[in-house]
Amino acid sequence: MCSVQSKYTQNNNSVIKKINQIENEVKQFLPSSKDDLDYFKIKYLGKNGVLNKLFDDFKTISVSEKKDVGKALNKLKSLVKSKLSFNPERQTTKTFKPEDLTKTVKNNNLGSRHPLAIVEQEIIEIFSSIGFSISEGPEIEDDWHNFTALNTPQEHPARDMQDTFFIQSNPDILLRSHTSSVQVRHMQKNPPPIRILSPGRVYRNEAISARAHCLFHQIEGLYIDKNVSFADLKQTLLFFAKKMFGEKSRIRLRPSFFPFTEPSAEVDVYWGLKTEADYRITKGTGWLEILGCGMVDPNVLENCNINSKSFTGFAFGMGIERIAMLKYKIDDIRLFYENDLRFLKQFSSYL
Ligand code: PHE
Repeated sequence: MCSVQSKYTQNNNSVIKKINQIENEVKQFLPSSKDDLDYFKIKYLGKNGVLNKLFDDFKTISVSEKKDVGKALNKLKSLVKSKLSFNPERQTTKTFKPEDLTKTVKNNNLGSRHPLAIVEQEIIEIFSSIGFSISEGPEIEDDWHNFTALNTPQEHPARDMQDTFFIQSNPDILLRSHTSSVQVRHMQKNPPPIRILSPGRVYRNEAISARAHCLFHQIEGLYIDKNVSFADLKQTLLFFAKKMFGEKSRIRLRPSFFPFTEPSAEVDVYWGLKTEADYRITKGTGWLEILGCGMVDPNVLENCNINSKSFTGFAFGMGIERIAMLKYKIDDIRLFYENDLRFLKQFSSYL
């Protein structure tokens, strides 16, 4: 009895194995013509075909095993039939034919980086190399961070220096007019020493022209520590100018005024007076303004809970558009925002 049963079991197992093998074969069948299909049909469903042979085997196994084997056989039969409904004509043969993989790609339209992004990254890299890290703040600001904390009280005439976009229903909320607001946010949350760079968009209600726009980009720098001096500020900016405009660059500082720095200065780089255009761009002086800067006013430090007796610092802010215009000799600020491909493509080598 025992041996008989084992014989049946073996028989059953070998039939199942065979069915599985055939099933795999059928699954892989992919006709590419009507002839392929005809051949397939005869091979599997023909009188002497694979399935009929399996049904012959089926007869030899025990009744108790018939259930499983029968199930597997019927499954295989439906799989074969489903393959027969496949229409090779409807297949786009192209999908299956391997293309020439060495062919050059047509229309390889790679984009290019925007000149403002290129210049912003370059400025960030220069200051990162001397220990500055990025700190960002919101473009929608409140009056306190944009003005009051920066030593610019409500009636101060300096507020007229920048035409600010206020929210009509709530004049306490505004679009930041400079990235100096990020100085305040950072100092409130971080004790000195501080060495940060804050890039971002700023907004001013200015008439749009070749030299001004209502939206532009700035990078702010802030350095607070013990014994930071004006000499540190000057050397840091000279280092920047040399990296940005070449080792031979010269800078000069002109006294200026900002409510949040004391003393304050504007920085020019020497552009030269070789061509007629140089005279025009520099208004005949040979010098071009690139940024505003100064020693952080003690009132600003105190507003941000930093002890102005123990700490001093400097800050600077520059317009990214202005630097990009100088670097690439672009004479109209509006070009940056028009997304004219003829303009943008010129920067594709800076990817
Ligand atoms: N916030 C000033 C501006 O937008 C620039 C500046 C920044 C000046 C930091 C001094 C210190 O013009």
